[in-house]
Amino acid sequence: MNYSGFTLWFTGFSGAGKTTISKGVALELKARGCRVEVLDGDTVRTYLSSELGFSKKDRDTNVRRIGFVSSLLSRNQVIAIVAAISPYRDVRNEVRHMNQTFVEVYVKASLEACEQRDVKGLYALARAGKVKEFTGIDSPYEEPLNPEITCNTQYETINESIAKVIKALEEYGYIP
Ligand code: PPS
Ligand code: MG
Repeated sequence: MNYSGFTLWFTGFSGAGKTTISKGVALELKARGCRVEVLDGDTVRTYLSSELGFSKKDRDTNVRRIGFVSSLLSRNQVIAIVAAISPYRDVRNEVRHMNQTFVEVYVKASLEACEQRDVKGLYALARAGKVKEFTGIDSPYEEPLNPEITCNTQYETINESIAKVIKALEEYGYIP
């Protein structure tokens, strides 16, 4: 397929649905014959950012690394899909400019909803003070002001969110 690469960047609270939606979108794009690579915060922190914690400085370093790798992939005809909390607007903006084509997806769910889901049990640990600098609890999350796409995971099913992203990419002309 003769389509160029781009970076599809999912941002949002822990437990908002970034990983699930990004995996679903990746599967659909692969089924269409696109070259796809997923950079998930949890995986990157295992292999590329294992020395980093969750201070602003460390998160910024992590997000810049991910943005750099996504820029390398996307300029080589790969669709780089990122799923990272990436809580700071200034650094998201910085990585946007490092990437030739950047599509920001805000995976939106209230803190209350994410905390209620508490898929990994991390919110409970954060409330108990056992996990520090947890996004939304004692570390900030700055909402995107102008994301290309918003997935409201409190009101849409996962499949609806995936379909919404795919449709938007078609409308932008980024995928056939
Ligand atoms: S960041 O802010 O973009 O650098 O974060 P990211 O690389 O996406 O890593 C988020 C995952 O790390 C786990 N985790 C935490 N998240 C937020 N705050 C704190 N303190 C924290 N400690 C561990 C958690 O599994 C996050 O994954 P997701 O998929 O977002 O739930
Ligand atoms: Mg995740």
